[in-house]
Amino acid sequence: MASDSLPDSPRPRRTAKKWWKESTVYQVYPASFKDSNGDGIGDIPGITSKLDYIKNLGADIIWLNPIFCSPQIDMGYDVSDYYNIYRPFGTVDDLDRLTAGIHERGMKLVLDLVVNHTSDQHRWFQEARSSRFNPYRDWYVWKKPTFDADGNRRPPNNWKSYFGGSVWEYDDLTGEYYLHLFAKEQPDLNWENPYVRAAVHDIVRYWLNKGADGFRMDAINLISKDQSFPDAPVTDPNSRWQDGTKYFACGPRLHEYLQGIGKILKQYDAFSVGEMPEIYDLNEILRSVGDDRSELSMVFHFEIVSLDHGAGGKFTSRTWTLNELKTVVSKWQTYMHNNNGWNALYLENHDQPRIVSRFGSDTQEHLALSAKMLATFLGFQSGTLFIYQGQELGLPNVPKTWSLDQYRDIETLNHWHENQKSPHPESYLQEYRLKSRDNARTPMPWDSSPNAGFSTAHPWIPVNDNHISLNAATQITQKESVYNFWASILHLRKKYPDVLVYGTFELLDPDHEHVFAYIRRASSAHAIVVMNFKSNEVKWSVPACFQRNGHGRILLANYTRSLPLDSTITLRPFESFIWFSDSEHSEARL
Ligand code: GLC
Ligand code: CA
Repeated sequence: MASDSLPDSPRPRRTAKKWWKESTVYQVYPASFKDSNGDGIGDIPGITSKLDYIKNLGADIIWLNPIFCSPQIDMGYDVSDYYNIYRPFGTVDDLDRLTAGIHERGMKLVLDLVVNHTSDQHRWFQEARSSRFNPYRDWYVWKKPTFDADGNRRPPNNWKSYFGGSVWEYDDLTGEYYLHLFAKEQPDLNWENPYVRAAVHDIVRYWLNKGADGFRMDAINLISKDQSFPDAPVTDPNSRWQDGTKYFACGPRLHEYLQGIGKILKQYDAFSVGEMPEIYDLNEILRSVGDDRSELSMVFHFEIVSLDHGAGGKFTSRTWTLNELKTVVSKWQTYMHNNNGWNALYLENHDQPRIVSRFGSDTQEHLALSAKMLATFLGFQSGTLFIYQGQELGLPNVPKTWSLDQYRDIETLNHWHENQKSPHPESYLQEYRLKSRDNARTPMPWDSSPNAGFSTAHPWIPVNDNHISLNAATQITQKESVYNFWASILHLRKKYPDVLVYGTFELLDPDHEHVFAYIRRASSAHAIVVMNFKSNEVKWSVPACFQRNGHGRILLANYTRSLPLDSTITLRPFESFIWFSDSEHSEARL
């Protein structure tokens, strides 16, 4: 969980300007975005056909989840060839056309670099497993078995895999175990080996030369492991397998490895965002994203998206409070600003459920209101903003009527496999409806036609029935839609970068249980952002700074709200607004 105390911060410095700081990233999940050839699977030509949609929203960068050759055990996060495209998604020529289309529109392309592990079908691993003496053997992590008192074979240690079971898989042919932090079909690369590092550098250079503008780096803080591979302390007495993250999350040589890639990125002025689960030490993260470090542009941390994970892991429940959210947000916002780091702002992605169902409300009455409130909450913070496909429409989770055979995700299905005989399996079904990764992986609803305009065929994962009313075609034309609300946020960030991109962040009213409010401030202007996280009305005492300044205006709101504000106001269910005051009327200090 979040550490409460802040590391010592130097005095705020002026944040260096960079193109990627002022950009908004739109994340495309290729399998579910748009199918161009009627096989039920989204593809690259489909993405190319929708570039104007993304451009019109106001996004600057498109990040594609993995598109490379893969047996798709984990939706492309198991790469079998880094230089070719997974055939159902298209060809390298299709990618060239997509890249050209993105660049013609003044946008940039970010690819997903998955190099903590490969697929077990990658040639490197096929070679490695063929013999203990194969030159590729040392590209992966192999260990001899251990034996218990009765002579039974045991894995080298007790670490638990993210997708269930041990991280070690025994390979009969050569009589050793190999390491896989994720599925057994995703063997971990051995980054200690300089040939592995050189091979990764080649991949990075190749795609930058082909026109990519940067990378999202998958699980990148897991690449350096404690080479003594010790047993993890027993934190779950009911399991054989224990949490070993402290031996591989942010391991001893992580920064050296990141600098190796960072040097190349720098030559291309490329963008990078590192996915970094299991790190709560801000200083460690600052070492990765500090302006002077040449490692990563920014990282995805997990403190917000694990607020509702219970003691038994993601698929157990936890009640969280708004004050916890305030602590996390304020910590990251102020610390990065004060230390010349940079934040990546996200609430959704292909691994997370839909945020309206999670932090807002997916009832008909409140869906759009809470989607706009959460957009306001995220969209005016400091950092590079990430929007996941469908978030701009305020899409909710999959319907509550979904049964287990409609899920496709390996994490969910493996979890079920391990836990269906537990005393209360139905509680897990409930948790999948809340947090399964499939919630965000259903086909993009383009219109109200059969299969939501995503495909002419039956899609690989069911379409959400709500596409009849909730779809892109309708929202584009409605002035008040969630889509147009997001478009306004992106427009405002472009119009007022000094305040909304580079300005400082201060939490207002930290103890209010239902209202989240913050100030963004630059020398010339300031903005106050106010959100009611509740589905009912709440009272809010308006801070003095509003009243002292009668000149500001509301830039964007999800209800009509007129000025000036009384000393106490009633915020309606999920009400949010941003109030702005610029140079001529602004006070130096509020
Ligand atoms: C990351 C990806 C996730 C994948 C995992 C293993 O967390 O975002 O989708 O399953 O890494 O590559
Ligand atoms: Ca297709």
